[in-house]
Amino acid sequence: MNILVTGGMGYIGSHTCIQLIEAGHTPIIFDNLYNSNAKVLDRIQQVTGTAPQFVKGDIRDKDALVKAMTEHKVDSVIHFAGLKAVGESVEKPLEYYDNNVNGTLVLVDAMRASDVHSLVFSSSATVYGDPASVPITEDFPTSATNPYGRSKLMVEECLTDFQKANPDWSITLLRYFNPVGSHQSGLLGEDPNGIPNNLMPFISQVAVGRREALSVFGNDYNTPDGTGVRDYIHVLDLADGHLSALDKVGSTPGLHVYNLGTGNGSSVLDMVKAFEQASGKSVPYTIVERRAGDIAECWADPKKATKELEWTATRTLQDMTEDTWRWQSQNPNGYSDA
Ligand code: NAD
Ligand code: UD1
Repeated sequence: MNILVTGGMGYIGSHTCIQLIEAGHTPIIFDNLYNSNAKVLDRIQQVTGTAPQFVKGDIRDKDALVKAMTEHKVDSVIHFAGLKAVGESVEKPLEYYDNNVNGTLVLVDAMRASDVHSLVFSSSATVYGDPASVPITEDFPTSATNPYGRSKLMVEECLTDFQKANPDWSITLLRYFNPVGSHQSGLLGEDPNGIPNNLMPFISQVAVGRREALSVFGNDYNTPDGTGVRDYIHVLDLADGHLSALDKVGSTPGLHVYNLGTGNGSSVLDMVKAFEQASGKSVPYTIVERRAGDIAECWADPKKATKELEWTATRTLQDMTEDTWRWQSQNPNGYSDA
């Protein structure tokens, strides 16, 4: 299949392009490079032996999208493009609603104009807000506590209404838990700008000597060791979830909603220990105040995806930490070293 991958130059999108190519599909990457590096194209080629098609463009540009979908005879769209930093979204809500919500509406309008009726959307476990219990199933109530989360929820709601009005479309909402890890080649990985907001990139930058110590945001949660518990999932397992979604429901009219997680929770200190083992480096940390808006624990019940998509996460915490370390140690400054 020819698949338009918006945001395909980014962290999750680039790994998904590798898995798409290796499964025999043709990804057409559509990305404005706002948060990614053009060197990703060479890296995908080095891994797969295939240079992916790339269109530099913005998802708020309907004409450019229609042109890309028509010229490349696109069958389906996987939509990763968007802004994703929670703290920044509080400072810049307009930019977040414009990129994430307006951008998605323009994309769907362009798909309609191009007669492409199959869409897979990158949602997030953030739509569950502060869940009443764990593990989380897809029918849990949804809510938002910041503009980023609200933009994901709004898009889910817009797409749900749109699919109801257009019952021949296949729209899949994939709710990611915490993606970490890198391609096992060490050639691709997560390369955040500035100080990382998320745990794994912060730990790996401490291990490689770019930062002094990790701040652990609170050790007084009601969890086994007091630190926050999350469902970390290897980015390649997540990528494979998109292929399974396309394969199993991408041509089936309907609104399809799945959690993509492992079903296991790990604490901040579990992650520190696992990373120290994988890297052989020490990761000094200090306990600081809780981060505003954080929740104690969050992990998925992934049974629906296992049953309906025949997908399950197979990579272990050791794979996640070893692969992250390979990427970080070979590219201490991310793609700017390439
Ligand atoms: P990323 O920032 O690495 O990738 C996003 C890509 O989209 C970048 O290459 C960026 O240049 C591009 N982009 C942004 N705005 C664009 C626009 N207007 N037009 C065209 N391209 C644009 O992020 P990621 O971690 O790969 O996340 C991908 C998607 O998954 C996002 O929608 C994100 O919200 C969602 N998600 C991510 C996580 C996570 O922890 N990484 C968790 C849950 C959901
Ligand atoms: C964060 C976002 C969430 C988004 C998700 C994507 C917030 C409040 N939430 O979730 O909306 O969908 O990323 O993966 O930003 N931690 C530390 N020190 C650090 C960084 C993190 O102790 O320097 C802890 C956190 O308190 C948390 C855990 O590590 O317990 C994971 O944090 P993070 O990687 O930021 O992910 P989430 O908070 O789950």
